[in-house]
Amino acid sequence: MTREEAWQLVGDNVQAAGLRRHMLSVEAAMRAYARKLGGDVELWSLAGLLHDWDWEIHPTLETHVVDGTPTLREKGVPEPVLQAILSHNEAATGVPRRQPMDFALLACDEVTGLIIAAALVRPSKDVRDVELKSIKKRWKERIFAAGVDRDHVEKATAEFGAACFGGQLDLWDHVSTVLAAMKDVAAELELDGRLAAAPSPPPPAT
Ligand SMILES: [Fe+2]
Ligand SMILES: [Fe+2]
Repeated sequence: MTREEAWQLVGDNVQAAGLRRHMLSVEAAMRAYARKLGGDVELWSLAGLLHDWDWEIHPTLETHVVDGTPTLREKGVPEPVLQAILSHNEAATGVPRRQPMDFALLACDEVTGLIIAAALVRPSKDVRDVELKSIKKRWKERIFAAGVDRDHVEKATAEFGAACFGGQLDLWDHVSTVLAAMKDVAAELELDGRLAAAPSPPPPAT
């Protein structure tokens, strides 16, 4: 499956702009880590871009990935990519993380949510204005990016470090890598300031 075909599949099945942005963000992060770790850039990127493609058609933790993967297999998505996608919902699929790509995918998944939230709270709505220190500061504010489970992020980062960095991957080095990767694709993420220019909707009629 080419990148273009994968993006088409996402476009056909994902309506929510936020979910598309999430997958593009994880794709960028996976590309960065493939380069860093000598992984296959195309495969790692594909895993990031496709990992939640079926969320709107299978919107429960029990069915997400479980019911979507046969379709990906039919469409010729390579097995290592399927393995990575299956293992990001191990609780439902029973597929554990094995390859470096699997650990990277899980570790990048939620971190992108923190960064997107940090970009969207800025008046500029531009991810290129986000600094690591502001994410660090907000990390302890439970109300900030409340959907991002901090314990889960720490655990996934530690596992990724153990599997791919000889046991050492500092959480903030990790966030910094993902942030840099997302800044590189700011326009694709529509986090390049264009949302700041959008007129605010009129107040609801009473
Ligand atoms: Fe998912
Ligand atoms: Fe995800």
